[in-house]
Amino acid sequence: MSYGQVSTWLAWVPKENAELAHRVFKTNGWLRSDVHPLTKSNLVGFPLLHNPPQEALERTCKGRFPLPQMNIQEVTVHPSIVPHASMRHAVGMWLKDRNIVTNELLDSLPAKWERLGELILLPYGTFDGTEWNEVKSHAELPTLWHQIAESLGGTSLALQAPIANDGYRSPQIELLHGTTEVRFTDHNVAYAFDAGQVMWSSGNVTERRRIGALDLTGEVVIDAYAGVGYYTLPMLVHGKAACVHACEWNPASIEGLRTSAALNGVESRLKVHDGDNAASMATLLGVANRVHLGLLPSSEPAWEAAIRCLNDEGGWLHVHMNVEEKAIDDWVKATVNSLNLIASEWQRPWRLQPHHLERVKWFSPRVRHVVLDVQTVVDSMN
Ligand SMILES: C[S@@+](CC[C@H](N)C(=O)[O-])C[C@H]1O[C@@H](n2cnc3c(N)ncnc32)[C@H](O)[C@@H]1O
Repeated sequence: MSYGQVSTWLAWVPKENAELAHRVFKTNGWLRSDVHPLTKSNLVGFPLLHNPPQEALERTCKGRFPLPQMNIQEVTVHPSIVPHASMRHAVGMWLKDRNIVTNELLDSLPAKWERLGELILLPYGTFDGTEWNEVKSHAELPTLWHQIAESLGGTSLALQAPIANDGYRSPQIELLHGTTEVRFTDHNVAYAFDAGQVMWSSGNVTERRRIGALDLTGEVVIDAYAGVGYYTLPMLVHGKAACVHACEWNPASIEGLRTSAALNGVESRLKVHDGDNAASMATLLGVANRVHLGLLPSSEPAWEAAIRCLNDEGGWLHVHMNVEEKAIDDWVKATVNSLNLIASEWQRPWRLQPHHLERVKWFSPRVRHVVLDVQTVVDSMN
């Protein structure tokens, strides 16, 4: 797809010197990254940001390759090369065509965004401020949103917003263009859900993979807070769990979970329990080899049920929690104590001990999202 024509300086060098010249131009910071190099007979033309001073060119090329032939030429800017440059260019062109002064607006464009399938999610607060208000009241605004999505390689565009403090941990994203229905693959697991109704934490990628790497062959697992299957699906697809009981009370998450399970061909090993896990886990007492407790800021409300759901041979708990970095060691001790108190209260034939603590991500400047893997052990009588 052609994206826009710009005039640029081109430095032409013989093909046999192209690799070295590319390195040299790049090191000097001269190379444009939003335009492909051109070729012409046995020459390669490198797009440069400006015409380097003759003396600098001579010093740089001397003894390595012939002095490049310089010219200015109309070239096509490709959006896919450097997405940020493409977005900047797209917004710049849109504003220029409507005689809106651009520089401050362009400088305020975000350097990072998230992508869920075809949906581009820009950070909370993008396009805030008085300069953007004029733009946002423009009658042709929908075409700007469309072009931004396209410049970043997507078809839909939305703004992130803080996760709601409701029981569903609902996202509150603001859709600007297209749809919030997403479908994508993460580490060979397909997910499909409505990102407008269901939160997705990209930051938990390492944890999804770690849990997916466990060999769960033959295991019955309970995912107490299943969502759209962040952990349920990797445990079924990669871990090969015999059965995952997925507890979830948000209808939108359940719809995404069922759709995704079917996409991955694992629906026969998935049992969805619709509603509060306080009720559904009470029907799963003594059945599980493993319980996944993936709720933030704390999964404590389900600890007692989780201990009662493990079978008599015992097994594993994966306990998620937001904990202040400096308090992590104390939290581990306190958690294992609490779990053992519950286990003895319910006369379980084992006790629990910590096996591994995974630091998943920073939740806020001093608070970590951690996962404590806890294993049951049976004390020897000797
Ligand atoms: C934060 S999400 C899961 C996120 C995922 N574990 C991750 O880290 O990306 C937690 C899910 O638990 C569900 N949930 C919270 N409390 C619940 C309860 N008592 N019973 C069933 N589902 C619950 C919410 O609807 C939400 O889908």
